Amino acid sequence: MKEKLARIEKDCLVKVNLAKSLKELDNIFLSLFGKNGEMTLLPKDFPKLSKDELRIAAPLFNKVKTELEKSIEDNRIGLREESYKKLESEELDLEQTVELPKRTGHLHPTTQFIQETVELFKKIGFQEFEAPQIDTDEYNFELLNIPKNHPARDLWDTLYINNKTASNKTNGLLLRTHTSNAQIRIMKQLKLPIRMMSIGRCFRYENLDTRHEHTFEQFELVYVDKGLNMANLQYLSEYFIRAMIGKDIKARLRPKYYPFVEPGFGIDAECVFCKGKGCQVCGGIGWLEIGGAGMIHPQVLKNGGIDPNAYSGIAWGPGLGRMMMLRYGINDIRSFLSGDLRFLEKF
Ligand code: DAH
Repeated sequence: MKEKLARIEKDCLVKVNLAKSLKELDNIFLSLFGKNGEMTLLPKDFPKLSKDELRIAAPLFNKVKTELEKSIEDNRIGLREESYKKLESEELDLEQTVELPKRTGHLHPTTQFIQETVELFKKIGFQEFEAPQIDTDEYNFELLNIPKNHPARDLWDTLYINNKTASNKTNGLLLRTHTSNAQIRIMKQLKLPIRMMSIGRCFRYENLDTRHEHTFEQFELVYVDKGLNMANLQYLSEYFIRAMIGKDIKARLRPKYYPFVEPGFGIDAECVFCKGKGCQVCGGIGWLEIGGAGMIHPQVLKNGGIDPNAYSGIAWGPGLGRMMMLRYGINDIRSFLSGDLRFLEKF
């Protein structure tokens, strides 16, 4: 026992004097006084000793224990003071500047696409028109031949503002479901002939999936003049699709029902992924719908104060998200509003 204590004492004092950090001292302390430390376990041998041996060993154990604890603690204080001195001598330069790599942002891909579209149509004489995103039932539905309780309303489920605490004026308002709410305003406010476009956010109460988003951008075109016909619509569709999706991408008009046009069409772009052969993306059809269009319904022209016997009109409302999906090969429309920089930084 005596020899063992002497060895522990010697070893420990050597190690403590060599220790250069508080961490090292902590480890020495734990190796002696931790749960399975040498000094912690030593008293377990006391019962094996004779009375005479114990009379010497017990006080010796206490003496060595106190001595080692003190030596570790003294060294701790010494090391701490040394590190404070070092800190004091180190000068902190608060004016030092660090060059970080510059990260410049850029316009959102949807904004870039909108700007490009506007420029494209300005070139052929169309001008921009802004319509409200919060609108009345009248402009969004009724004046476009969609009366209250008409089944066609099922095509556009929206979010109504029906707040008991709001004034009567705010009640009955809704989030516009399409940019077609610009149509009547354009016809009422502007002189004929009309070549206008209205681009902006629309909202729907939708079941979300890879092709449907509750908030999205539409591009409304309203073109009213004498003698317009479907050939003009076909030309404009090709002009748009070729410039924005791809030079060799064809456009087609497919009969489709919308209450505010007669005849009405779906504008399809040839599928960029299979070039019309049919693939998974286009569901084997070879074409993808980018939006609705048609010859403006005579009643809608009348609602806008235009004589349908003298003038005819073309209107369309493609969804820009759908166009961008085709142009960039994006398979989920929700990526645009995700705020995910890994996606947005690609543009
Ligand atoms: N507003 C329609 C929609 O969101 C799309 C549309 C169809 C717009 C035909 C038009 C049109 O201008 O003539 O579903």
